[in-house]
Order: sequence, then structure tokens, then C-alpha cells
Amino acid sequence: MKILVTGGTGYIGSHTVVELLNNGHEVVIVDNLSNSKRTVLKRIFEITGKNVSFIKADITDRKAIDQVFEDHQFDGVINFAGLKAVGESVEKPIEYYYNNIAGMLVLLDAMRAHNCFNLVFSSSATVYGTPKTVPIKEDFPLSTTNPYGTTKLYIEGILRDLYASDKRWNIAILRYFNPIGAHPSGKIGEDPNGIPNNLAPYVLKVLVGKLPIVHVYGNDYDTPDGTGVRDYIHVCDLANGHLLALNKLFQSSGLFTVNLGTGRGYSVLELISAFQAAANKKIPYEIVERRLGDVAVCYADPSYAKELLGFETKFTLNDMCRDAVRWQMENVDGYPNE
Ligand code: NAD
Ligand code: UFG
Repeated sequence: MKILVTGGTGYIGSHTVVELLNNGHEVVIVDNLSNSKRTVLKRIFEITGKNVSFIKADITDRKAIDQVFEDHQFDGVINFAGLKAVGESVEKPIEYYYNNIAGMLVLLDAMRAHNCFNLVFSSSATVYGTPKTVPIKEDFPLSTTNPYGTTKLYIEGILRDLYASDKRWNIAILRYFNPIGAHPSGKIGEDPNGIPNNLAPYVLKVLVGKLPIVHVYGNDYDTPDGTGVRDYIHVCDLANGHLLALNKLFQSSGLFTVNLGTGRGYSVLELISAFQAAANKKIPYEIVERRLGDVAVCYADPSYAKELLGFETKFTLNDMCRDAVRWQMENVDGYPNE
């Protein structure tokens, strides 16, 4: 099948492209490179021995996106393109709403105009807001606490309205929990701009001496060690979830929403400790104030993804840390510029 992957040079996109290529799909990537580098393409080739077509374009650019659909006949689209920094979204709501929502609308309109109705969308566990209980099921109430999360919630609503209006659409809404790790080859991984907001990339920067110390945001939560608990999922398991979702869309029509997580939560201190073991090195940390907007505990009930897609995670927390450490050690400054 021929798949358009928007945001395909990004962290999750690049790992999914590898998975698609390894499973015989043809891939075209569209990315504006606002948060990724061209070098990723070379690395994807080194891993898979296969080339992908790359078009540098912005998904909000209707003319450019139309041209992509004129030039290629796609069987499906995976939309990873989006801005994702929670704090930045509070500072720049217009940019976030415009990029994520207008971009999605342009893509949907171009897909319809070119008779392509199979879509996989990157949503997030952030749409569950502050969950009342865990594990989190797909039918739990939805709410958000920041503009980034709201873009995901609104897009989910748009996709449901679209499906209600026209049953030619086949749509998979995938709610990711906390992707970490890297491809076991060490050639592709997460390469955030500036100081990372998320825990795993922050710990990795401390590990390679780029940052002095990890700040642990609070140890007075109602959790076994007082620090926040999350469902960390290996990015390669997550990538596989996209392949399974696409296969489902090709086999049967409809709209479905699934959690992609492991079903198991780990605390901040447990994650730091797993990184220390993987790197065989002490990682300095200090407890600081809670971060505004953080929830205490968040982990998935992955049973619907298993039932519907046959999705099961294979990688352990130690695997995630080992692969992330390998990526960071072999790419201390992230991807080089081309
Ligand atoms: P990323 O920033 O590494 O990848 C996103 C890619 O999209 C980047 O390469 C960026 O250059 C590109 N992009 C952004 N806006 C674009 C536009 N208007 N046109 C074309 N390209 C554009 O992020 P990621 O971690 O790989 O996340 C991928 C998707 O998954 C995002 O939609 C994100 O919101 C969602 N998600 C991520 C996480 C996470 O923790 N990483 C969790 C839940 C959901
Ligand atoms: N944390 C620290 N120190 C840090 C960073 C994070 O202690 O420097 C803690 C947080 O308080 C939290 C845990 O580590 O308890 C995980 O935090 P992350 O920032 O790594 O991840 P979040 O769960 O806050 O959010 C991430 C993405 C969201 C997404 C969500 C669910 O940033 O966009 O996962 O997928 F919605």
C-alpha cells in the first residue's frame, strides 16, 4: 500500500515509517522540518535499505498538499504533523490551534478531493484530563487543561462529525500514552529542540552531561513513592500499533478510538533508576515543586487495543531505557545537520 506520513521525520513518525517500510509499504513523507531534520531520511535508509519520497511542505498549505495528492495515489494517510509542547501551547494558543487544527482540516479536505478516506490520527492520553480512576478506558470522560490538549480533543470531535456525515471515511484515533525509547539500531530516536519538557529526554541530557541535574516535579503525590506515575511505551511498540491500525482500516470500515499504552505505570524515580541501570551511571536528581497541570497517575487499559487490533507491547521498561541510552550515547548532539 502507498501511505502518506505527515510529520514522518519526527520522533514517532520516523519509527513508524521504518515499521511501514519493513512491512512492504511504500511511504511518502510530508514534513515542514519545523521540529525535525533531513538526516532522519538517511538514517531510515540505513535501517531499512529502502528509500522514502520526501516532500518539504506544511500541512496548512492547501496548494502544496493538493499537489502531493495530484502526484501520488495514496491508500492511506497517517497524520503525525503537529506542535506538541504543552507549555508553549499556553504561550502561543493561536499557533497551536492553527497548525494542528487548520492543518488537519486542509489534509482532510485534500483527502476527500482525491478520494482517499483512510486516516490514522495521533491523539494523546492528554484528552483524559485528570482521570478519576486508573487504568484509563477509552470511554472515560474527556477534558483538557491546555491548548495543546484541546487541539487533540477538537480534532477527535471533527473526525467523529466527519465520519457521521460520510461513511466512506475509515478513521483510527490512537491515544498514545508516554512514548520513550528509540530504534534498537541507535540510528533514530528523540531529538528535541532546546531544553526537553519531557522526563525521558531530560534524563538523557543529564546522562550525557548536557544538563546538570534532573528536577523531579513533586514527591508528595498519592503514589507508592510520591512521584508521578506514567505508562511509558517503547516507540517501536507504538509504531507497530500504527501498522495494526492501518491494517484494520483496510480490512473493515468505520471509526475507532484506542489507547496505545502498556497498561503498567512507573514512577519518576523508577524511570530514573531504570535509566541508571541501563547506562551503568548515577543520574543526579533533586525533588522540586510539583509542575502545574500534572496528574498523579496515568496509565492505560490496553485491553480494547488488544481485542480490536491484536495490539500487545513487547518491550519492557529496561528495553526502553537501554535503547534510549544507546541512541543518546551514539548521537550526543542529536541528529547532525545535513
Ligand atoms: P515531533 O515533533 O517529533 O514530530 C512531529 C513532526 O511534524 C515534526 O517532524 C515537525 O517538523 C512536523 N510538523 C509540525 N507541524 C507541521 C506542519 N504544519 N506541516 C508539516 N509538518 C509539521 O513529535 P512526535 O513526538 O513524533 O509526535 C507526533 C504526533 O504524536 C504529534 O501530533 C503529537 O502531538 C502526538 N503525540 C505525541 C506524544 C509524545 O509524547 N511524543 C504523545 C501523544 C501524542
Ligand atoms: N517530570 C519530572 N521532571 C521533568 C519532566 C517530567 O519530574 O523534568 C515528571 C512529570 O511530573 C510526570 C512525569 O515526569 O510525572 C512524566 O512527565 P512528561 O513531561 O514526560 O510526560 P507527561 O505525562 O506530562 O506528558 C506527556 C506529553 C503530553 C502527552 C502525555 C500523554 O508531554 O503531551 O505525555 O501522552 F499528552
